Amino acid sequence: LFLMLGPMPVQTTSITKLCKTSTIVTVNGMYPGPTIYAREDDRVIVKVTNLTPYNLSIHWHGVRQRLTCWFDGPAYITQCPIQAGQSFTYKFTLLNQRGTLFWHAHISWLRATVHGPLIIYPKQGGSYPFQTPFQEHVIVLGEYWLQDIQELEKHVKDSGGAPPGSDAYIFNGHPGPLHNCSKSDVYSVDVTKRKTYLLRIINTALNMEHFFGVANHSMTVVEADGEYTKPFNTSFLMLTPGQTYNVLITADQPNGKYYMAMAPYMPAKRVPFLNKTSYAILNYIESSKLDSLSPIESNMSVQKSSPERSLVPYKPILPCVNDSDSVQAFTGQIRSLHPNEHWSPIDVPLKIDKSLFFAIGLNVFSCSSSDPDKCQGPNGGVFAASVNNITFKRPMVSLLNAYYNNLEGYYTADFPDKPEKMYDFVNEAPNNIGVDTQPVIGTQVSVLEYGWTVQVIFQDTGTIGTENHPIHLHGFSFYLLGSGIGNFNSTTAALNLYDPPYRNTVGVPAAGWAVIRFRADNPGVWFMHCHLEVHTTWGLSMAFLVKDGKGKMQTLPPPPPDHPFC
Ligand code: C2O
Repeated sequence: LFLMLGPMPVQTTSITKLCKTSTIVTVNGMYPGPTIYAREDDRVIVKVTNLTPYNLSIHWHGVRQRLTCWFDGPAYITQCPIQAGQSFTYKFTLLNQRGTLFWHAHISWLRATVHGPLIIYPKQGGSYPFQTPFQEHVIVLGEYWLQDIQELEKHVKDSGGAPPGSDAYIFNGHPGPLHNCSKSDVYSVDVTKRKTYLLRIINTALNMEHFFGVANHSMTVVEADGEYTKPFNTSFLMLTPGQTYNVLITADQPNGKYYMAMAPYMPAKRVPFLNKTSYAILNYIESSKLDSLSPIESNMSVQKSSPERSLVPYKPILPCVNDSDSVQAFTGQIRSLHPNEHWSPIDVPLKIDKSLFFAIGLNVFSCSSSDPDKCQGPNGGVFAASVNNITFKRPMVSLLNAYYNNLEGYYTADFPDKPEKMYDFVNEAPNNIGVDTQPVIGTQVSVLEYGWTVQVIFQDTGTIGTENHPIHLHGFSFYLLGSGIGNFNSTTAALNLYDPPYRNTVGVPAAGWAVIRFRADNPGVWFMHCHLEVHTTWGLSMAFLVKDGKGKMQTLPPPPPDHPFC
């Protein structure tokens, strides 16, 4: 099947939120951007035209891009940016993929406003491995800044400090009733009593992990990052930026209005953030006379323009802002659904060809400027971040282009398999600014032979205080074998080789670890990075270079003729 979409013009749009009118970058003038609907195995063709004055590229987050690395989207990794006035047509197949994914800008901090859902339904005639919902709703969680996002990014780079928190957390572009000037800027979902709904929830937030819950309603998780899971019930979700969940929810409560909430999850202490909950509304509409309401109540429930008047004062009970135990308990319940006709079998690699240990975390550079405004990081330094003590520097041409055309001098193929020194990463991190905390800047890739099975142990380091790192891998989904708090210990870590979830983004816990495995069977250059945008800016990223295999179906085809140049 061919799915011709677009053109997708990216443009600047004026928007008024929280009492202030600003100019933001949008797709089709929409914030969040338009939803792409497709079916499993569809071919997607999107012509992106850049009508903004900025450089641009679009990434299809979670799409595995089998043999289509050229269309993956991260700027300076698989393509040069689409320059102002230029177009690029992305073409790829949603091969054996399903569920809730999303697309977003993958350059500077434009993802803040340039993002939208990518919904992949089962094949024609196919069905979900769970009860067919009465209706589906897509809920895009995000963060909104009143400040111009390009200026914000520039300020963070210039100052060496942490970015300020956002001004509101938002549901499908709506801050909800409790912010300044936003009483009627509320996202509301209508439900009918006794019906079951599928909520497709996406966290697109720039720099914040989020809890999500619905007052008085339990949720049944059925999918994570576009792969089916064994259903389990929960009162809350925790979504890192880059993660998606599908949940079933049944309207089994008395008629009324119930808050949906999103609240920050932030165990780190060093960084400023907005510690405020945002709300949307689950609104029961009367389905029949049998659901008897008093006339006043039913009148109120159809007055959507003033939702605050008839709110039931129920708010969901979410974990505290730093409650890592609850998060671990939640993520520990996520398991792949067992093989059946609905998707590919669980195929956890049992033998490992390449074993990697990545120490990930924040660091500080000593500040080379005498201007205190430029030294706003910890202890008068400049914030940085690293993987195995290497702060990633983006090259001047795309890595894929440099690799494919044998251009020399843009990267080296020596990304270390493990840190130079192994120590107690969580507790004994050196905090001698300018000595051990100072990483090396470089553009290095880790080279993988086609078909290798790869294990990566991620270990958060406490160098500048610990923090969560939602690590996202392009080009693959991986099995998440386990995660925990503290230093990784191979003798005590319980790894699930039986039914681990198959994901594209793992929340590596603050002061903790996570273990993933994947099969390097997709040639190209694949970015791996923290999906907290500021951490990527600081350098918490690296790239894998997967070599061609022997057969035609194992070889990366040449670039498309309209591939953007630098
Ligand atoms: Cu969703 Cu590299 O990103």
